[in-house]
Amino acid sequence: MRRMVLLEAIEKRLLEELNPKVRLVLETGRYLIEGGGKRLRPLITMLSCGMCGGDPEDALPLGIGLEYIHAASLLHDDVVDGAKSRRGRDSANLVFGNEVAVLTGDYMYAKALHLFSTYGNIEMIRLVSQAVMDMAEAQVLELSKVGELITEDEYFRIIEGKTAVLFGACVAVGGMAGGCQDRDTLYEIGLRMGRAFQLVDDLLDYVGDSKKTGKPVGNDLREGKTTYPLLSVIDYLDRERVESLLREVEPTEEEIETLRKEVVSLGGDARTKERALEELRVAKDLLSKFPDSSYKEEILKIMDFVVLREL
Ligand code: IPE
Ligand code: IPE
Ligand code: MG
Ligand code: MG
Ligand code: MG
Repeated sequence: MRRMVLLEAIEKRLLEELNPKVRLVLETGRYLIEGGGKRLRPLITMLSCGMCGGDPEDALPLGIGLEYIHAASLLHDDVVDGAKSRRGRDSANLVFGNEVAVLTGDYMYAKALHLFSTYGNIEMIRLVSQAVMDMAEAQVLELSKVGELITEDEYFRIIEGKTAVLFGACVAVGGMAGGCQDRDTLYEIGLRMGRAFQLVDDLLDYVGDSKKTGKPVGNDLREGKTTYPLLSVIDYLDRERVESLLREVEPTEEEIETLRKEVVSLGGDARTKERALEELRVAKDLLSKFPDSSYKEEILKIMDFVVLREL
């Protein structure tokens, strides 16, 4: 099944399954879903199922559940980060308020587990609920480090929890639906993809085109967050100056822009891309254990997209 066909099925089902009784929950959920998004998580869930010999359709409702978890995490993330734009438009918290955004996020998390209880199994529910716990914990860890220059170890711990584990769950759940026993390898493939994915998200925060990413550049610095582009060139910068900028509650746009440009001119973006490629090399190596198929080819294409993407 070609990627476009899968995407069409995903878009349709994403709107169908939401199905809340309260109109405002529907409006908020639809607003986020209709804002766009790459739908990478359900795609890789279905492709992994196909690669393992199953019918990708069988993994569709599970992929939808995983996309709802992602959507819920975005609703909450934008409240936590005080973000004003998402997917190229005003963020849901801005349009509907923090309260409605948080509660619609809760609805989506629970809807995801509901889908898993209908179409999945206990093992999958265990894996997915662990992923949600990891995401929440990692974001609290990230918050607790706001304003500090963190270490590389801390950075990887944060991105693993907030982003990579969900990718791990997608590849593992899809593969399990396809009948694969080697769950650990599948999970590891997703984890590496997810690390690469967040590294590139952090890179796009430095060099992205906001018209394409749908979110402004410099946000992480503005929020006092240390990410890989900065860490990769920290030895060439005045550490104390960086620390004082991160600590500032309201740094000026000029300060942010100056540091952002310095990081880029020192090659922080190229180093980050290289680091993401390292993760993907491991993921591709693990993927080679699986028999060749059009599904595997599509997963490989998504891996390339993860580093080449501009959105
Ligand atoms: C954004 O994820 C949040 C991160 C984990 C970096 P995506 O970039 O996958 O968001 P959409 O779904 O395509 O909008
Ligand atoms: C993504 O972190 C983590 C989750 C949404 C769980 P970011 O805070 O970097 O995501 P964006 O950049 O706002 O999409
Ligand atoms: Mg954010
Ligand atoms: Mg965040
Ligand atoms: Mg980001």
